[in-house]
Amino acid sequence: MSSLPPLPEDERIILKSPQEIEKMRRSNQIVAEILAEMKTSARPGVTTRELDELAEALLAKRKAHSAFKGYNGYPAALCTSVNEEVVHGIPSNRVLKEGDILSLDFGAIYDGFYGDAAITLPIGSISTEAEQLLRVTEEALYLAIEQVRPENRLMDISAAIQRHVESHGFSVVRDFVGHGIGKHLHEKPQVPNFGIPGRGVRLKPGMTLAIEPMINAGGCEVMIREDGWTAVTKDRSLSAHFEHSVAVTENGPAILSKL
Ligand code: MF3
Ligand code: CO
Repeated sequence: MSSLPPLPEDERIILKSPQEIEKMRRSNQIVAEILAEMKTSARPGVTTRELDELAEALLAKRKAHSAFKGYNGYPAALCTSVNEEVVHGIPSNRVLKEGDILSLDFGAIYDGFYGDAAITLPIGSISTEAEQLLRVTEEALYLAIEQVRPENRLMDISAAIQRHVESHGFSVVRDFVGHGIGKHLHEKPQVPNFGIPGRGVRLKPGMTLAIEPMINAGGCEVMIREDGWTAVTKDRSLSAHFEHSVAVTENGPAILSKL
């Protein structure tokens, strides 16, 4: 037991009660259900705007609101990032075609709490490299989630992602990170997808984190397009993104955004 005062960063992490975590589970279930519907609708010939409209309709049906629309001026409910687009792709009349990969990032607010999750989908049949990128990125997310337990520190999560991704020759995007989530879309702490194990704040029951590896097939550098939102890989290599909102419990991780 140390009698030193807590680190300032630790102090500003908002812990949630079990009741609040149940509310967050509800918002995140809404996100998961809508992403599941996207999975069946995202096929060759469909536009990314049609997917956004569908997501909006499904939110309204559940009396939930978009977490993203209007956030810093973001114009849509869904982020649709295709191929070399990393995150924050804006839905448009772009038609999805066979062989594309599509990252869908989606957030909802319900009963005062946010939900946030992302998946990357193959559109029809995709290249072997694309398949491997999707698989490794999703595996990295689940390896990270396994680290979400009270005996661990924040960077154990980050390091698990980096280790897995780099062992497959892919690279971790540095310019965007995961985050705490709750009554706000973005809370403390930031959750990088790279780092040194054993560093960072100790994980505590009641912490709720959105863990979201963004992984490139080529180099880690990204740039922002003229629209001010869409992040793309500098070398135009493919990029994938998977995200879950997770609570730290005494017994380990509770994945709030899993159906
Ligand atoms: N999952 C992303 C995030 O946590 C989505 C934000 S999109 C925005 O930052 F439009 F809201 F910015
Ligand atoms: Co997020």
